[in-house]
Amino acid sequence: MTQGRLVVDPDFALGPVDRRLFGSFVEHMGRCVYEGIFEPGHPSADEQGLRRDVLELVRELGPTVVRYPGGNFVSGYRWEEGVGPVAERPTRLDLAWRSIEPNTFGLHEFMSWAAQAEVEPMLAVNLGTRGVQEAADLVEYANHPGGSELSDLRIKNGAVDPFAVKLWCLGNEMDGPWQVGQKSAEDYGKLAAEAAKAMRLVDPRIELVACGSSNRQMPTFAAWEATVLEHTYEWVDYISMHAYYEEADNLADFLASAVDMDGFIDDVIAATDYVRAKIRSPKKLKISFDEWNVWYQTEYHRLPPRDWTHAPALIEDNFTVADAVAVGSYLISLLNHADRVGVACQAQLVNIIAPIRTERGGPAWRQPIFYPFAQMARLARGVALRVPVQSPEVVTPKYGAVPAVTTAATWDEETKTLALFLVNRSVDDDIVTTVDVRALQPHRVAEQLVLSGPDVRATNTATEPDRVRPRTENSAELDRGRLTVSLPATSWTALAVSCTPTQPSTVNA
Ligand code: AHR
Repeated sequence: MTQGRLVVDPDFALGPVDRRLFGSFVEHMGRCVYEGIFEPGHPSADEQGLRRDVLELVRELGPTVVRYPGGNFVSGYRWEEGVGPVAERPTRLDLAWRSIEPNTFGLHEFMSWAAQAEVEPMLAVNLGTRGVQEAADLVEYANHPGGSELSDLRIKNGAVDPFAVKLWCLGNEMDGPWQVGQKSAEDYGKLAAEAAKAMRLVDPRIELVACGSSNRQMPTFAAWEATVLEHTYEWVDYISMHAYYEEADNLADFLASAVDMDGFIDDVIAATDYVRAKIRSPKKLKISFDEWNVWYQTEYHRLPPRDWTHAPALIEDNFTVADAVAVGSYLISLLNHADRVGVACQAQLVNIIAPIRTERGGPAWRQPIFYPFAQMARLARGVALRVPVQSPEVVTPKYGAVPAVTTAATWDEETKTLALFLVNRSVDDDIVTTVDVRALQPHRVAEQLVLSGPDVRATNTATEPDRVRPRTENSAELDRGRLTVSLPATSWTALAVSCTPTQPSTVNA
């Protein structure tokens, strides 16, 4: 058994936890919308065709914000075709996924789903095949109270109150050769700035996300961010990041991959702050990490080109305990950057590399990656803390020596609760970790939730939906302000610690 050591002190606050860090993503892709959240005729569907069984799982998962309708899909999307009487909506070829798009689910259906799912909507506009006018039109349709053609059309289509959507993405992955309407940084930067200007003229309260690079491996990475932001900096609030990880041939590498996520975030902060310095802006831009997850992409890219079908089963990866532990480490990385990452969306919500899986006409169930997300989304409140970690190292072929224990913590002054999230990325060794919590006067471990082996390859299926579940433990020990917790090899742990309310200080008259 090896040892780790952490110190938690509310004096070392990183910043408030933006609840938008626990976002998700619904794209018109494969079976995420159709047969995922929407399936008219399903035994659990409501009168609009929304699956109630899925809604229930979404509420349990607890995402705070959901990005829609893409993803690559948005770059060829005509939003007007997803509103109005369903029988009059056209069927289209979706070029992004070479699928048939019937448009039976569109903006109104999404907004109604979002209200029931209790999430904030985050909409993306098409800057691939479309431009400034269509982007401004969508803001007018969604957010203008009434008295203009488009806002009156929304009212006629059943939504008297404006949707009041605050968060908007200016396109998606516009640097990618796979993107319909791919652009150079220069062209995209100019277009995004003009679209942002027009959208803000319609509704000045909106918040905007400019597209960063599609991933850290893009040859134009960092130069893309610099050029795009030189055009858009004063118009936008966020720059986007996307990252997907997979286990290639080495589990230790995979479990250490949050090291890459940390470095990627730091690089984007550097590129962003470079522009800030260059244009002498007082504003500090935030990051919208609006696509992140595990995705077995290598397997996906080996597949032959798809035929034109409706709702094909695309990238429905079956996730394991090891994948859930990796997801836990990405959540930790995001929380440890709470001072600069303001929005984050796990991609995606249902069926597509998702925490929730469904069968057509059948059940819905939780994948192992469901649990770290649900636990952090529920427990991470208040302020994120900087937590110095002393940990044994794991030596990995790809990332070299990395600390085996990675951790993040939040302190909720209101409820006097410390939440601690820990991943042990050692494949072989359990690690006993001591957490010095004396500064918070802890008095009780309220929750200790653990996800680990013995079989790190275990997964959940429609017939065995609960094979992988977190277990509640009470093995963490508190002694005079020091918490001792054993972290099994390849594991995720979430802890909630109740602390003694501090006495109000007496003021001398
Ligand atoms: O989430 C799946 C796809 O991955 C998205 O459509 C795209 O933005 C990214 O490349």
